[in-house]
Amino acid sequence: MPTPNPAALEFLTTRRSRPAKTLTTPVPSRTELLPILSAAARTPDHGKLEPWRFIVLESAALTRLSDLARERGQDLGLDVEKIEKGVSQFDNADLVVAVVSAPKPSEKIPEIEQVYSAGAVCLAMLNAALATGWGANWLSGWASHDREFVARGLGLEPHESIAGFIHIGTETSAPPDRPRPDLDAITTWVTE
Ligand SMILES: Cc1cc2nc3c(=O)[nH]c(=O)nc-3n(C[C@H](O)[C@H](O)[C@H](O)COP(=O)(O)O)c2cc1C
Repeated sequence: MPTPNPAALEFLTTRRSRPAKTLTTPVPSRTELLPILSAAARTPDHGKLEPWRFIVLESAALTRLSDLARERGQDLGLDVEKIEKGVSQFDNADLVVAVVSAPKPSEKIPEIEQVYSAGAVCLAMLNAALATGWGANWLSGWASHDREFVARGLGLEPHESIAGFIHIGTETSAPPDRPRPDLDAITTWVTE
C-alpha cells in the first residue's frame, strides 16, 4: 500500500489557480523552475513516448510574442478587444512555460491518448508550481490555436500544438474559490 499523504490530499482538494493578470515578479529562477518541470515530466504517458515538450518563455521572449500576437491579430482581422487580450497575455507576463503536445508516430498508442497526456502535464505543472508557493494559471488564448503564431513565434512543427501556457509568478491576491462540480451530477456508480 502507498503511504497515506494527507497533506497532499488536502492540497489537491483545496488548490486553485491564481489569475495570470494578478501575477507579478519575482518569478522562479531557472534553478527553482527545474523541480516544477521535473514534477510535470513525471506524468503518466502510455508507451513512454514522451509526446510533449516544454518551452520556457522569459521576459524578452514574452515581449516578442506580444508583438507577434498584435501582428497576427491584425492580419486575421480580429476585433481590437480580442487582439489586446491576446497581446496582454504575453505583455503582462514575466514567466510562462508553453507545454507543447508533440504526438509521436505509434501503431500501439492512439494519438488522442498522447494529447490527453499533454493535458495532464499542464495540470501537473500547475499543481507543482502552486505547491511550491508560486501563483500559477493555465491559459490558452486564440494565439495558441493560430498555426502561424505558434510556428513563427515558438517554432512548433506542423504536428505539434500548444496544450497550455502555464503562467508562473508571485501572487498579489488570492481569488475567491469558484463553484465546484456537483459530484452527484457527474458520477455514476455502477454496481452490477
Ligand atoms: C486548456 C485550458 C485552457 C484555458 N485557457 C484559458 C484562457 O485562455 N483564459 C482564461 O481566462 N482561462 C483559461 N482557462 C481556465 C483557467 O485555467 C482558470 O483559471 C481555471 O479554470 C481555474 O481552475 P482552478 O480554480 O481549478 O485552478 C483554461 C483552462 C484550460 C484547462
